[in-house]
Amino acid sequence: MAKGYLITFEGLDGSGKSTQALKLKEALSRKGYSVVLTREPGGTPLAEEIRRVILTPTTEPLVPMAEILLYAASRAQHVENLIKPALAEGKIVISDRFIDSSIAYQGYGLGWDVEVVKAVNRMAVNGLMPDLTFFIDVSVEKALERIKGRQHRAEADRIESREMLFHRKVREGFIQLSKSDSRFVRVESEEHSIESIHRDIMEILQRKLNI
Ligand code: ADP
Ligand code: TYD
Repeated sequence: MAKGYLITFEGLDGSGKSTQALKLKEALSRKGYSVVLTREPGGTPLAEEIRRVILTPTTEPLVPMAEILLYAASRAQHVENLIKPALAEGKIVISDRFIDSSIAYQGYGLGWDVEVVKAVNRMAVNGLMPDLTFFIDVSVEKALERIKGRQHRAEADRIESREMLFHRKVREGFIQLSKSDSRFVRVESEEHSIESIHRDIMEILQRKLNI
């Protein structure tokens, strides 16, 4: 049976991750691969419930540790009930966000101890790390501009309403992470079209994973 691969997309809200994840899924499916496209927080029914709890504004704000643990809880469900079984069947799993989002948002963004966030999430993924991670990089200004252009989504969640400084710290977190491990590929998205980024991604995939 073919070997399964876990490919993740990371970046700011509005960077273009979901667009690229979907295009990659379609391209690999056309090539005959069995592909599962999923997302975090979410991906299984219970993990999607946890997503709703995290992203729905409430009168009682989530304390930072509860936020870290809820993202990690949703990730643990996702890993055990969706990602690992699909990989065991030889499928390619593409996840729109994974462990690095917690390190960038809850660690670098919120300012929680990055080592604590990493430790909690190491338990959540239970040894499963991506084979390849595309960090789709844009400036905070461009990301917000793209979000404003999106009409089909309710964007008023608590995270996107946080101010620019927070997003700058998150971006810096992704930049640091992308330099720390060879599984990352940083893809510049500021001035590049959706199609040209997609072509670059296909070429990198061919070179790195031979798929
Ligand atoms: P994310 O999943 O990172 O939040 P999306 O993929 O939903 O971002 O993209 C946000 C918006 O920006 C969408 O309207 C999308 O069509 C647009 N977009 C994505 N990539 C590009 C690009 N390279 N150039 C211009 N617009 C883009
Ligand atoms: P997502 O659905 O990817 O939003 P978008 O498509 O707009 O990028 O993610 C929802 C929000 O959850 C997003 O603002 C990032 C945040 N998030 C974290 O803070 N930590 C995490 O571990 C994950 C997976 C997401």
